[in-house]
Amino acid sequence: MPTTSIMPIIKVPDPILRQRALPVSEITDGTRQLIENMVVTMYNAPGIGLAAPQVNISQRIIVMDCGKKEEPNLIQMINPEITSISEARTVLEEGCLSIPDQTADVERPAEVKVQYLNQDGISLSLNATGLLAACLQHEIDHLNGVLFIDHISRLKRDIILRRVMKELRQSTSGN
Ligand code: NI
Repeated sequence: MPTTSIMPIIKVPDPILRQRALPVSEITDGTRQLIENMVVTMYNAPGIGLAAPQVNISQRIIVMDCGKKEEPNLIQMINPEITSISEARTVLEEGCLSIPDQTADVERPAEVKVQYLNQDGISLSLNATGLLAACLQHEIDHLNGVLFIDHISRLKRDIILRRVMKELRQSTSGN
C-alpha cells in the first residue's frame, strides 16, 4: 500500500503555474493517492487551498479547507468548472503557497456555483459564498494558469513579484 507523502510546493516563476492543466480522463487509485498527498501537503504548509499544478502535476484537481479549526471542511474536486457567478462582487485578501508571504486584496464575484467530480467519479455541484467562493475561484484559476496577482494592478503585481524573487534569491544563495 503506497504511503501518503508531503509534496514540494512549486513557486513562481515556474512555468507549470502558467500552463492550462489537463482534465482527468480516468479516476484511478493513483488519482486518489495524489489527492491524499495534496491534502496532507496543504495542511502541512499550512494553507487553505492547493491545486495540482502547485505540486508539479498539470491535472485539473483542487483541494481546499476554508473551515475553522474546530470545524474543518475538506473539499476535494476533480475537473471543477464554474457554472455560474453572481453579479455582486466582493473584495477579500488573498495569498498563495506559490507566492510565499505575499497578500493582496482581490475583487471577485461574491457567489459561485461549481460542478465537479468526486473521487468516485460522481458528478456533484456546490454553491459557495464568502471565503469559500473566493477560494474556489482562486484554485480553479490555478488550473487555467492564472494567479491571484493577475487580478490586481500591474504596479502591485510587479512589487509582489520583485519581493518574492528577492526572497527566493536570498534563500537559494549560499548553497
Ligand atoms: Ni494559490
